[in-house]
Amino acid sequence: MTHIFHAYPAKFIPQIPKLFIEKYTKPGDTVYDPFVGSGTTLVECKLLNRNGIGIDSNPIATLISICKTTKLSSDEIIIANNFLLDIEAILALRPSNFHLQYDYLNTIDFQNKEHWFQNNVQIELSFLIKKIREIKNEKIVRFFEVCLSSIIVDVSNQESNTRYAYKEKSIQNFKTLNQFVKRGKMMIERISDFSNICSDSKIEIYTQSSEDVSFIPNESVALVITSPPYANTYDYYLYHKSRMNWLGYDVRKTQETEIGSRDKHSSKKLEINHFLKGLEKCFKECERALISGGYAVIIIGDSVIRGELFDAKLFTKDLFAKFGMDLIEFSSQNLKETTRMFNPKFTNELKLEHILVFKKN
Ligand SMILES: C[S@@+](CC[C@H](N)C(=O)[O-])C[C@H]1O[C@@H](n2cnc3c(N)ncnc32)[C@H](O)[C@@H]1O
Repeated sequence: MTHIFHAYPAKFIPQIPKLFIEKYTKPGDTVYDPFVGSGTTLVECKLLNRNGIGIDSNPIATLISICKTTKLSSDEIIIANNFLLDIEAILALRPSNFHLQYDYLNTIDFQNKEHWFQNNVQIELSFLIKKIREIKNEKIVRFFEVCLSSIIVDVSNQESNTRYAYKEKSIQNFKTLNQFVKRGKMMIERISDFSNICSDSKIEIYTQSSEDVSFIPNESVALVITSPPYANTYDYYLYHKSRMNWLGYDVRKTQETEIGSRDKHSSKKLEINHFLKGLEKCFKECERALISGGYAVIIIGDSVIRGELFDAKLFTKDLFAKFGMDLIEFSSQNLKETTRMFNPKFTNELKLEHILVFKKN
Protein backbone atom coordinates (compact mmCIF):
# COMPACT_ATOMS: atom_id res chain seq x y z
CA MET A 1 0.00 0.00 0.00
CA THR A 2 1.13 3.59 0.61
CA HIS A 3 3.42 2.52 3.47
CA ILE A 4 6.36 2.45 1.06
CA PHE A 5 6.09 6.12 -0.06
CA HIS A 6 8.88 7.50 2.08
CA ALA A 7 11.76 6.21 4.20
CA TYR A 8 11.44 7.12 7.89
CA PRO A 9 13.78 6.37 10.80
CA ALA A 10 12.32 3.88 13.31
CA LYS A 11 9.17 3.40 11.26
CA PHE A 12 6.64 0.78 12.48
CA ILE A 13 6.24 -2.38 10.51
CA PRO A 14 2.52 -2.09 9.59
CA GLN A 15 1.71 -5.43 11.23
CA ILE A 16 2.24 -3.90 14.68
CA PRO A 17 -0.48 -1.22 14.57
CA LYS A 18 -2.72 -3.59 12.56
CA LEU A 19 -2.53 -6.29 15.23
CA PHE A 20 -3.42 -3.96 18.11
CA ILE A 21 -6.08 -2.01 16.19
CA GLU A 22 -7.84 -5.29 15.38
CA LYS A 23 -7.38 -6.59 18.92
CA TYR A 24 -8.51 -3.54 20.90
CA THR A 25 -10.93 -1.57 18.69
CA LYS A 26 -13.94 -2.00 16.41
CA PRO A 27 -14.84 -0.26 13.14
CA GLY A 28 -15.80 3.39 13.72
CA ASP A 29 -13.65 3.74 16.88
CA THR A 30 -10.93 6.40 17.12
CA VAL A 31 -7.22 5.56 17.35
CA TYR A 32 -4.64 8.17 18.40
CA ASP A 33 -0.90 8.25 17.60
CA PRO A 34 0.82 11.21 19.34
CA PHE A 35 4.19 10.54 17.59
CA VAL A 36 2.78 9.66 14.20
CA GLY A 37 6.02 9.88 12.15
CA SER A 38 5.35 8.65 8.63
CA GLY A 39 1.73 7.74 9.45
CA THR A 40 1.89 3.92 9.58
CA THR A 41 -0.83 3.79 12.27
CA LEU A 42 -3.13 6.05 10.26
CA VAL A 43 -2.75 4.10 7.00
CA GLU A 44 -3.83 0.99 8.93
CA CYS A 45 -6.77 2.97 10.40
CA LYS A 46 -7.91 3.86 6.88
CA LEU A 47 -7.63 0.22 5.79
CA LEU A 48 -9.47 -1.08 8.88
CA ASN A 49 -12.23 1.58 8.97
CA ARG A 50 -11.13 3.25 12.20
CA ASN A 51 -10.94 7.03 12.63
CA GLY A 52 -7.44 8.26 13.33
CA ILE A 53 -5.72 11.26 14.92
CA GLY A 54 -2.00 11.76 14.37
CA ILE A 55 0.34 14.41 15.78
CA ASP A 56 3.99 15.06 15.02
CA SER A 57 6.25 18.01 15.71
CA ASN A 58 8.04 17.45 12.39
CA PRO A 59 6.30 18.96 9.31
CA ILE A 60 7.87 16.37 6.98
CA ALA A 61 6.26 13.62 9.09
CA THR A 62 2.82 15.18 8.85
CA LEU A 63 3.22 15.95 5.13
CA ILE A 64 4.00 12.26 4.50
CA SER A 65 1.17 11.08 6.78
CA ILE A 66 -1.43 13.28 5.09
CA CYS A 67 -0.32 12.16 1.62
CA LYS A 68 -0.33 8.46 2.57
CA THR A 69 -3.89 8.61 3.95
CA THR A 70 -5.52 10.86 1.34
CA LYS A 71 -7.49 9.13 -1.42
CA LEU A 72 -7.15 10.39 -4.98
CA SER A 73 -10.06 10.21 -7.43
CA SER A 74 -9.58 8.74 -10.90
CA ASP A 75 -9.55 12.31 -12.34
CA GLU A 76 -6.82 13.25 -9.89
CA ILE A 77 -4.82 10.17 -10.85
CA ILE A 78 -5.01 11.32 -14.48
CA ILE A 79 -3.71 14.79 -13.52
CA ALA A 80 -0.84 13.17 -11.60
CA ASN A 81 0.04 10.87 -14.51
CA ASN A 82 0.01 13.79 -16.96
CA PHE A 83 2.33 15.73 -14.69
CA LEU A 84 4.87 12.91 -14.87
CA LEU A 85 4.43 12.59 -18.64
CA ASP A 86 5.54 16.23 -19.03
CA ILE A 87 8.76 15.48 -17.14
CA GLU A 88 9.29 12.26 -19.06
CA ALA A 89 9.11 14.30 -22.28
CA ILE A 90 12.07 16.36 -21.03
CA LEU A 91 13.93 13.19 -20.08
CA ALA A 92 13.38 11.78 -23.57
CA LEU A 93 15.15 14.81 -25.08
CA ARG A 94 17.65 15.63 -22.32
CA PRO A 95 18.15 19.13 -23.76
CA SER A 96 21.80 20.12 -23.45
CA ASN A 97 20.86 23.67 -22.42
CA PHE A 98 18.38 22.54 -19.69
CA HIS A 99 20.59 23.57 -16.75
CA LEU A 100 21.50 26.92 -18.32
CA GLN A 101 17.90 27.59 -19.27
CA TYR A 102 16.50 26.95 -15.77
CA ASP A 103 19.38 28.28 -13.70
CA TYR A 104 17.25 31.38 -12.96
CA LEU A 105 14.83 29.22 -10.90
CA ASN A 106 17.53 28.28 -8.42
CA THR A 107 16.48 30.86 -5.82
CA ILE A 108 15.60 28.76 -2.74
CA ASP A 109 18.42 29.62 -0.37
CA PHE A 110 19.64 28.05 2.84
CA GLN A 111 22.86 27.62 4.77
CA ASN A 112 25.44 25.23 3.21
CA LYS A 113 23.28 24.58 0.15
CA GLU A 114 26.42 24.27 -2.04
CA HIS A 115 27.97 21.77 0.35
CA TRP A 116 24.98 19.42 0.35
CA PHE A 117 23.77 19.77 -3.26
CA GLN A 118 25.57 19.84 -6.61
CA ASN A 119 24.57 22.70 -8.89
CA ASN A 120 22.85 20.48 -11.51
CA VAL A 121 20.79 18.87 -8.70
CA GLN A 122 19.83 22.28 -7.30
CA ILE A 123 18.51 23.34 -10.72
CA GLU A 124 16.53 20.13 -11.23
CA LEU A 125 15.02 20.33 -7.73
CA SER A 126 14.12 24.02 -8.22
CA PHE A 127 12.52 23.18 -11.56
CA LEU A 128 10.44 20.39 -9.98
CA ILE A 129 9.32 22.59 -7.08
CA LYS A 130 8.20 25.34 -9.46
CA LYS A 131 6.26 22.82 -11.58
CA ILE A 132 4.67 21.20 -8.51
CA ARG A 133 3.55 24.56 -7.12
CA GLU A 134 1.84 25.36 -10.44
CA ILE A 135 -0.56 22.41 -9.94
CA LYS A 136 -4.01 23.72 -8.94
CA ASN A 137 -5.08 20.70 -6.84
CA GLU A 138 -3.69 20.85 -3.28
CA LYS A 139 -3.81 17.07 -2.78
CA ILE A 140 -1.65 16.53 -5.85
CA VAL A 141 0.75 19.28 -4.82
CA ARG A 142 1.22 17.43 -1.49
CA PHE A 143 1.54 14.10 -3.29
CA PHE A 144 4.43 15.34 -5.44
CA GLU A 145 6.04 17.22 -2.55
CA VAL A 146 6.27 13.86 -0.77
CA CYS A 147 7.65 12.30 -3.96
CA LEU A 148 10.33 15.01 -4.11
CA SER A 149 11.06 14.71 -0.38
CA SER A 150 11.53 10.96 -0.75
CA ILE A 151 14.40 11.39 -3.26
CA ILE A 152 16.15 14.43 -1.73
CA VAL A 153 18.65 12.51 0.42
CA ASP A 154 19.55 10.21 -2.52
CA VAL A 155 20.47 13.15 -4.75
CA SER A 156 22.24 15.14 -2.03
CA ASN A 157 25.69 14.72 -0.53
CA GLN A 158 24.09 13.42 2.71
CA GLU A 159 25.28 9.89 3.41
CA SER A 160 21.93 8.30 4.26
CA ASN A 161 18.50 8.86 5.79
CA THR A 162 19.85 8.35 9.30
CA ARG A 163 23.35 9.74 8.90
CA TYR A 164 23.90 13.46 8.44
CA ALA A 165 27.46 13.15 7.14
CA TYR A 166 28.99 14.38 3.84
CA LYS A 167 29.47 11.87 1.05
CA GLU A 168 30.45 12.92 -2.47
CA LYS A 169 28.06 11.18 -4.87
CA SER A 170 28.72 12.68 -8.35
CA ILE A 171 25.10 12.91 -9.43
CA GLN A 172 24.74 12.93 -13.23
CA ASN A 173 22.61 15.48 -15.09
CA PHE A 174 18.91 14.47 -15.16
CA LYS A 175 19.30 11.83 -12.45
CA THR A 176 17.12 13.94 -10.10
CA LEU A 177 14.30 14.22 -12.64
CA ASN A 178 14.65 10.54 -13.47
CA GLN A 179 14.44 9.43 -9.83
CA PHE A 180 11.44 11.70 -9.32
CA VAL A 181 9.55 10.16 -12.25
CA LYS A 182 10.38 6.59 -11.20
CA ARG A 183 9.26 7.23 -7.64
CA GLY A 184 6.17 9.13 -8.80
CA LYS A 185 5.04 6.23 -11.01
CA MET A 186 5.35 3.77 -8.15
CA MET A 187 3.44 6.13 -5.84
CA ILE A 188 0.61 6.60 -8.35
CA GLU A 189 0.20 2.85 -8.65
CA ARG A 190 0.04 2.49 -4.87
CA ILE A 191 -2.30 5.41 -4.23
CA SER A 192 -4.69 4.06 -6.91
CA ASP A 193 -4.87 0.69 -5.16
CA PHE A 194 -5.17 2.33 -1.75
CA SER A 195 -7.92 4.71 -2.90
CA ASN A 196 -9.91 1.77 -4.29
CA ILE A 197 -9.90 -0.29 -1.12
CA CYS A 198 -9.57 2.05 1.86
CA SER A 199 -12.53 3.08 4.00
CA ASP A 200 -14.05 6.56 4.36
CA SER A 201 -12.97 6.83 7.99
CA LYS A 202 -11.89 10.28 9.21
CA ILE A 203 -8.19 11.03 9.63
CA GLU A 204 -6.96 14.21 11.36
CA ILE A 205 -3.25 15.14 11.35
CA TYR A 206 -1.60 18.09 13.12
CA THR A 207 1.94 19.52 13.16
CA GLN A 208 2.70 20.43 16.77
CA SER A 209 3.98 18.95 20.01
CA SER A 210 1.74 16.29 21.52
CA GLU A 211 2.42 17.73 24.98
CA ASP A 212 -0.80 19.77 24.70
CA VAL A 213 -3.62 18.39 22.56
CA SER A 214 -6.54 19.94 24.45
CA PHE A 215 -8.60 20.01 21.23
CA ILE A 216 -8.98 16.21 21.45
CA PRO A 217 -12.07 15.72 23.64
CA ASN A 218 -11.85 13.79 26.93
CA GLU A 219 -12.69 10.09 26.68
CA SER A 220 -12.99 10.08 22.87
CA VAL A 221 -10.21 7.65 21.89
CA ALA A 222 -10.45 3.83 22.12
CA LEU A 223 -6.78 3.08 21.52
CA VAL A 224 -3.48 4.93 21.67
CA ILE A 225 -0.75 3.22 19.70
CA THR A 226 2.57 4.95 19.35
CA SER A 227 6.33 4.82 19.36
CA PRO A 228 7.90 7.89 21.02
CA PRO A 229 11.47 8.88 20.19
CA TYR A 230 14.01 6.59 21.85
CA ALA A 231 15.90 9.13 23.97
CA ASN A 232 19.33 10.19 22.66
CA THR A 233 19.06 7.89 19.63
CA TYR A 234 17.89 9.99 16.66
CA ASP A 235 17.64 13.59 15.43
CA TYR A 236 14.53 13.62 13.29
CA TYR A 237 14.86 17.35 12.61
CA LEU A 238 18.40 16.79 11.26
CA TYR A 239 17.58 13.84 8.99
CA HIS A 240 14.79 15.94 7.46
CA LYS A 241 16.74 19.21 7.44
CA SER A 242 17.38 19.35 3.66
CA ARG A 243 13.80 18.36 2.97
CA MET A 244 12.52 21.15 5.24
CA ASN A 245 14.90 23.64 3.63
CA TRP A 246 13.73 22.86 0.10
CA LEU A 247 10.03 22.73 1.00
CA GLY A 248 10.11 25.90 3.11
CA TYR A 249 9.59 24.65 6.67
CA ASP A 250 11.04 26.08 9.89
CA VAL A 251 14.00 23.86 10.88
CA ARG A 252 14.83 25.67 14.14
CA LYS A 253 11.27 25.45 15.52
CA THR A 254 11.17 21.72 14.66
CA GLN A 255 14.50 21.19 16.39
CA GLU A 256 13.25 22.90 19.56
CA THR A 257 9.94 21.00 19.73
CA GLU A 258 11.45 17.53 19.24
CA ILE A 259 11.81 15.63 22.52
CA GLY A 260 14.57 13.09 23.23
CA SER A 261 16.88 14.11 20.36
CA ARG A 262 20.60 13.43 20.35
CA ASP A 263 21.00 17.16 19.86
CA LYS A 264 19.36 17.74 23.25
CA HIS A 265 20.94 14.86 25.18
CA SER A 266 24.39 14.51 23.54
CA SER A 267 25.24 17.96 22.10
CA LYS A 268 23.38 20.10 24.67
CA LYS A 269 23.87 17.48 27.41
CA LEU A 270 20.37 17.74 28.88
CA GLU A 271 19.54 15.14 31.51
CA ILE A 272 17.04 12.32 31.01
CA ASN A 273 14.55 14.26 33.19
CA HIS A 274 14.04 16.77 30.39
CA PHE A 275 12.83 13.93 28.14
CA LEU A 276 10.75 12.36 30.91
CA LYS A 277 8.92 15.62 31.64
CA GLY A 278 7.99 16.00 27.96
CA LEU A 279 6.94 12.38 27.69
CA GLU A 280 4.84 12.63 30.85
CA LYS A 281 2.85 15.54 29.37
CA CYS A 282 2.24 13.58 26.13
CA PHE A 283 1.16 10.44 27.99
CA LYS A 284 -1.07 12.41 30.40
CA GLU A 285 -2.91 13.75 27.35
CA CYS A 286 -3.29 10.18 26.07
CA GLU A 287 -4.83 9.08 29.36
CA ARG A 288 -7.24 12.06 29.31
CA ALA A 289 -8.33 11.32 25.73
CA LEU A 290 -8.84 7.57 26.33
CA ILE A 291 -12.28 6.14 27.09
CA SER A 292 -12.56 4.13 30.26
CA GLY A 293 -11.55 0.57 29.37
CA GLY A 294 -9.36 1.95 26.52
CA TYR A 295 -5.81 0.76 25.81
CA ALA A 296 -2.44 2.42 25.25
CA VAL A 297 0.20 0.44 23.36
CA ILE A 298 3.67 2.01 23.67
CA ILE A 299 6.67 0.75 21.68
CA ILE A 300 9.79 2.24 23.23
CA GLY A 301 13.53 1.54 23.47
CA ASP A 302 16.06 1.87 26.28
CA SER A 303 18.61 4.67 26.02
CA VAL A 304 22.10 5.52 27.09
CA ILE A 305 22.66 9.08 28.31
CA ARG A 306 26.12 10.09 29.56
CA GLY A 307 27.08 6.43 29.67
CA GLU A 308 24.14 5.51 31.89
CA LEU A 309 21.50 3.00 30.75
CA PHE A 310 17.85 4.06 31.20
CA ASP A 311 15.25 1.33 31.36
CA ALA A 312 12.37 2.57 29.18
CA LYS A 313 9.99 -0.11 30.44
CA LEU A 314 10.46 0.98 34.02
CA PHE A 315 10.01 4.70 33.44
CA THR A 316 7.02 4.26 31.10
CA LYS A 317 5.38 1.91 33.61
CA ASP A 318 5.94 4.47 36.39
CA LEU A 319 4.53 7.31 34.29
CA PHE A 320 1.34 5.40 33.45
CA ALA A 321 1.01 4.23 37.07
CA LYS A 322 0.88 7.94 38.09
CA PHE A 323 -2.30 8.25 36.01
CA GLY A 324 -3.76 5.02 37.40
CA MET A 325 -3.14 2.92 34.26
CA ASP A 326 -1.80 -0.60 34.75
CA LEU A 327 0.63 -2.51 32.56
CA ILE A 328 -1.34 -5.57 31.44
CA GLU A 329 0.99 -7.12 28.82
CA PHE A 330 4.54 -6.61 27.62
CA SER A 331 7.29 -8.11 25.52
CA SER A 332 10.95 -7.04 25.24
CA GLN A 333 13.71 -7.83 22.79
CA ASN A 334 17.33 -6.85 22.35
CA LEU A 335 17.66 -3.65 20.28
CA LYS A 336 20.91 -4.92 18.75
CA GLU A 337 18.90 -7.48 16.78
CA THR A 338 16.49 -4.94 15.26
CA THR A 339 18.51 -1.78 14.59
CA ARG A 340 21.60 -0.78 12.68
CA MET A 341 23.55 1.79 14.66
CA PHE A 342 26.70 3.21 13.14
CA ASN A 343 27.99 5.05 16.15
CA PRO A 344 29.15 2.77 19.00
CA LYS A 345 28.47 5.65 21.45
CA PHE A 346 24.77 4.99 21.05
CA THR A 347 24.80 1.21 21.24
CA ASN A 348 24.80 -0.87 24.36
CA GLU A 349 24.66 -4.65 24.68
CA LEU A 350 21.88 -4.37 27.24
CA LYS A 351 19.56 -2.02 25.39
CA LEU A 352 16.06 -3.49 24.95
CA GLU A 353 13.02 -2.46 22.95
CA HIS A 354 9.63 -2.97 24.61
CA ILE A 355 6.02 -3.33 23.57
CA LEU A 356 3.98 -2.24 26.59
CA VAL A 357 0.17 -2.47 26.84
CA PHE A 358 -1.65 -0.33 29.43
CA LYS A 359 -5.37 -0.31 30.27
CA LYS A 360 -7.43 2.60 31.58
CA ASN A 361 -9.83 1.43 34.30
C1 LIG B 1 9.76 6.66 16.43
S1 LIG B 1 9.21 8.00 15.45
C2 LIG B 1 7.58 7.48 15.02
C3 LIG B 1 7.60 6.58 13.80
C4 LIG B 1 6.20 6.12 13.42
N1 LIG B 1 5.68 5.12 14.32
C5 LIG B 1 6.18 5.57 11.99
O1 LIG B 1 5.71 4.46 11.75
O2 LIG B 1 6.68 6.26 11.08
C6 LIG B 1 8.97 9.26 16.66
C7 LIG B 1 8.39 10.58 16.15
O3 LIG B 1 8.20 11.46 17.29
C8 LIG B 1 8.25 12.78 16.78
N2 LIG B 1 8.35 13.73 17.90
C9 LIG B 1 9.43 14.09 18.63
N3 LIG B 1 9.10 14.99 19.57
C10 LIG B 1 7.76 15.22 19.45
C11 LIG B 1 6.82 16.03 20.15
N4 LIG B 1 7.19 16.82 21.17
N5 LIG B 1 5.51 15.97 19.77
C12 LIG B 1 5.12 15.19 18.72
N6 LIG B 1 5.97 14.42 18.01
C13 LIG B 1 7.27 14.41 18.38
C14 LIG B 1 9.44 12.75 15.82
O4 LIG B 1 9.39 13.82 14.91
C15 LIG B 1 9.25 11.36 15.17
O5 LIG B 1 8.56 11.50 13.96
